[in-house]
Amino acid sequence: MNITELASNRFTTKAYDASRPLTEQQIADVLSLLQNSPSTLNLQGWHFHVITTEAGRKKIAPAIFDLNKTKVAQAPLAIVFSSINGISEQHLDELVAQEAQDGRFRDTESRQKNDAGRRSYINNVAHSPEFQHKWMERQLYIALGFLLLGAPALGLHATPIEGFDTQEMDNILGLEAQGLHSVVMATVGYNSDADFNAQLPKSRFPLDKIITKL
Ligand SMILES: Cc1cc2nc3c(=O)[nH]c(=O)nc-3n(C[C@H](O)[C@H](O)[C@H](O)COP(=O)(O)O)c2cc1C
Repeated sequence: MNITELASNRFTTKAYDASRPLTEQQIADVLSLLQNSPSTLNLQGWHFHVITTEAGRKKIAPAIFDLNKTKVAQAPLAIVFSSINGISEQHLDELVAQEAQDGRFRDTESRQKNDAGRRSYINNVAHSPEFQHKWMERQLYIALGFLLLGAPALGLHATPIEGFDTQEMDNILGLEAQGLHSVVMATVGYNSDADFNAQLPKSRFPLDKIITKL
C-alpha cells in the first residue's frame, strides 16, 4: 500500500484482540517511529512510557477515562507520551553531545555554532516557561502522527488517546519528579471483530473547505 492509501485506509481502532500479542520486533518497530520523529531544533523534549505487561496496564488503568478503559486493557501495547516541563541546560548539553556522537558536526567550530544557534533561538524566541510548555507539547503530536501512519504500514492497528486524566497519569508515573508531564497516549495491536470503526466509512470535510490555494 502506498502512503496515500495508508492515510485514507487507516482508522482509529475501537476494540483490540487481546489474544494477539505483538512480537518484540513489532514493538521495536513502533518505538523506532517515535525515535525517528522530527522535533523543533531536534530538541526531542519527550519521553515515552511503554506498557506491554498486565501489571503496567493495571497500574495506569485508574487514569484512563471509561470510554478508553477496554482499549487500554486489551491492547498489547500502550504508550504514554510525555513532554519535558522546560528546556534545561542539561538537556541542551546532552543534545549537542548526542549530535556530535552521531556525526553531525565536521569540527568543534561547527558544533559550537550549532549549539549557540539553538540556545540563541531559545533565549530570544522561546524563553518563557509558558511558551516552552506549549512548544514541547506540540512536538508530541508529530510523534503521534508518525505512529498513527506508521502502525498500519507495519500491518498494525492503533488508537490515539486524549481521553485520560493527565494529572492522575502524572501521579501514577511520578512524572513531576522526572521533569515531565503526560500529554497524549496511543495503543497499538490488532483490532477485534468488535471494532465498529473498521467497518465505517471515513468522514472528512471536502478539500475545498479545508484548503485555500494561493
Ligand atoms: C489527538 C487525538 C486524540 C484522540 N483521542 C481519542 C480517544 O481518547 N478515544 C478514542 O476512541 N478516539 C480518540 N481519537 C480518535 C478520533 O476520534 C479520530 O481520529 C477521528 O474521529 C477520525 O477518525 P479516524 O481516526 O478513524 O480516521 C483521538 C484522535 C486524536 C487525533
